[in-house]
Amino acid sequence: MHKIAVIPGDCTGPEVTGEAMKVLKAASEKFGFTYELTEYDFGYDRYSRTGEILPPEALKEFRHFDTIFLGAIGHPDAPEGVLEKGIILQTRFELDLYINLRPVKLYRSQDCPLKDKGPEEVDFVVIRENTEDLYTGAGGVFKKGTDDEVAIQESINTRKGVERCIRYAFEYTRKRNKRKKLTLCHKSNVLTYAHDMWRRVFTEIGEEYSDVETDAAYVDATCMWMVKNPEWFDVIVTTNMFGDIITDLGAIIQGGLGVAAGGNINPDSVSMFEPMGGSAPRHAGKNRINPIAAIGACQMMIAQLGEDDAAVAVDRAIVETVNKMDAMEAGKMGYSTTEVGDLVATAI
Ligand code: IPM
Ligand code: MG
Repeated sequence: MHKIAVIPGDCTGPEVTGEAMKVLKAASEKFGFTYELTEYDFGYDRYSRTGEILPPEALKEFRHFDTIFLGAIGHPDAPEGVLEKGIILQTRFELDLYINLRPVKLYRSQDCPLKDKGPEEVDFVVIRENTEDLYTGAGGVFKKGTDDEVAIQESINTRKGVERCIRYAFEYTRKRNKRKKLTLCHKSNVLTYAHDMWRRVFTEIGEEYSDVETDAAYVDATCMWMVKNPEWFDVIVTTNMFGDIITDLGAIIQGGLGVAAGGNINPDSVSMFEPMGGSAPRHAGKNRINPIAAIGACQMMIAQLGEDDAAVAVDRAIVETVNKMDAMEAGKMGYSTTEVGDLVATAI
């Protein structure tokens, strides 16, 4: 019995979560595994009612689940970043979800804005460090609001944090077994302390993986190549901030935020899976948001639970469904949110 915590979240979050859970149910019936869902109402509604964002007890409880599914967090009436930081980032840090695994996989050429690129060319994985760098909140502000204001936001990179991320990336590249090529995306020409460490650790650990080809690219150049020659990439490993940015670029070349999914992973403990897009307030309640990203996150979760046959079947069902859809943008799919969920469930 898999114990799953579910945080549907804000705006379109509950809608896409509903479809992901529909697909989970279909997969469990077909492949004979059982699970138990525990829902948590964290997000704007609870915050506006009670002022509570993510109580410490919840984080303790999360540790006792096999996995966590998150719909989307963020609301236009909430102060900027409070819920995102308080719920998503807090969970990443407290549960030490130090890998953010983001596949960039295009299903159909017509969903890609790049000329002459199709599923063959756009198929790589970004491994983003998920607990350090500019995200730790280190720094401070001095003389705020005056002409003499000083604002410092520090990038924290620990040897241990860099090492475990890079090691995970080498292991992942080996297991993925596609081109067995790992690219370090960095900026060591400017960030001469932190990214110099990333480069040294990358070279050091790379020596243990003689079967994996290594490569390094500056982050600005990485953006350029992702657009011009996405087929050059197999697996990219990078820092938290760069990973945040390049995975939005990744999302748009794979068909947009309606498609992109990711996993916040602690390889030794509980992990959290989420669609990459936000809560898309303007589409909320209209049954028109694309649930494929959430279903893709659910597929990654099923794989991580060890239900391999079910994960393969859900992946196939997603491909089959995407091929029936007019487009990946909300409202342009040719189907409603719930219909897309039904199509995937039926295809399983
Ligand atoms: C992401 C998001 C988050 C991030 C935000 C919502 C804090 O953009 O998951 O990529 O910056 O990590
Ligand atoms: Mg982001």
